[in-house]
Amino acid sequence: MPKTNRTFAAKGESWAEVEAALDEARAGDKLWNDPRNLRAAYDAGDDVIRVATEAFNRHLGDNVIFNTSSYPSLRRYEDDVVAMVLELMNAPEGASGSITTGGTESIVVAVKAAREWAREHRPQATAPEIIVPRTGHPAFNRAADMLGLKVVRLAESPAFRADVAAMARAVTENTVMLVGSAPPYPLGVVDPLPEIAALAEAHGLWLHVDACLGGFVLPFVQDLGHAVPTFDFSLAPVTSISADLHKYGYSGRGASALLLRDRAYARYQRFEFDDWPAGLYSTMGLAGSRNGGPVASAWAVMRYLGYDGYRERVEKILAIKQRFFDGIDAIEGLCVWGAPEGGHFSFGSPEIDIFAVADVMAERGWLCARAREPKALVLILNIQHAAIVEAYLADLAEAAAAVRAGQVESRGDEPIYIG
Ligand SMILES: Cc1ncc(COP(=O)(O)O)c(C=O)c1O
Repeated sequence: MPKTNRTFAAKGESWAEVEAALDEARAGDKLWNDPRNLRAAYDAGDDVIRVATEAFNRHLGDNVIFNTSSYPSLRRYEDDVVAMVLELMNAPEGASGSITTGGTESIVVAVKAAREWAREHRPQATAPEIIVPRTGHPAFNRAADMLGLKVVRLAESPAFRADVAAMARAVTENTVMLVGSAPPYPLGVVDPLPEIAALAEAHGLWLHVDACLGGFVLPFVQDLGHAVPTFDFSLAPVTSISADLHKYGYSGRGASALLLRDRAYARYQRFEFDDWPAGLYSTMGLAGSRNGGPVASAWAVMRYLGYDGYRERVEKILAIKQRFFDGIDAIEGLCVWGAPEGGHFSFGSPEIDIFAVADVMAERGWLCARAREPKALVLILNIQHAAIVEAYLADLAEAAAAVRAGQVESRGDEPIYIG
């Protein structure tokens, strides 16, 4: 008996009709790689997008969970990508890694691995806690929430970085993991990882470095001769690192690398289950079925760009960032917060309401994120932004002047991220 009042139409439409409907639905969307977009979107150029898309689409129907039986190519991409990212992160002999669907999943499974590790190595931690700097990503709280751990999140970021003295004071018998970000999303200033590493070593703790944003930026910043605190496996206490392929790695959305210093720790990360009719079920991440597209596109883009392709892009981004810094410093009352080393930064004002400035910029079509400690606009840079720096700064100067003159007041929009 057919149902009436269907939202799910009984008869299908032609592709032409569906395509027209898609275009209509997207009419109000922003274009992700419009250079007036300074939010989290990672565009390395049209040629790179083409490579990522081609590779992604070739594997659209392939499921990573069957990579050992049906899709040896996916196994190979994953092994190759992990090997390349391990090299980038100065991993020692014996390190290993896996691909997840994104930064959040990498962090959740890193926390899971640390929890399992602690059961063997920190038995005194009967109510396990992780210590997260003020700026650490909410994924650490999500992980703790799911895994039954407690997060001790620091109260502030003096000097715009993790407060290592406060971290040291927070360590207890129950601490199992310390976190540092390279760099964190708010502020963008790399945490003092050598000092955090010393603390981890002194107490025998798991140290996770969240390089989701900086994994494909900071190694090249260092290579180009700029100062960046050491953040990778060259610090012996660093146990795991997350580095996102779908951010500055430029793959299609849905890929992050989670690396472990010691492949023996993979057993803490892996989930296995055998007690059901279909046999052994075993994955490294949270996902069961996982699209082959993201890892294929990561592999293709890494081969296409090579080390030098990433470095060239980072060099251009640093030049763009410097033009922004100079322009912002030249506007009365505005300043960059801290000295962000990577591809993004935040700026604000000790004198005028930067959210009012943000409102004017938004009305003029500039998209960017906001943060609130301190109040800031957060700009995430790509090579395409070379074309808009002057136009942005001209609008910014006018917006700041209008706010200073009392012509504009903030609409009071708080930063929000709701998916
Ligand atoms: C520093 C940092 N860590 C983790 C994440 C989470 O990554 P994802 O959004 O891919 O889950 C982000 C996202 O922006 C991030 O900036």
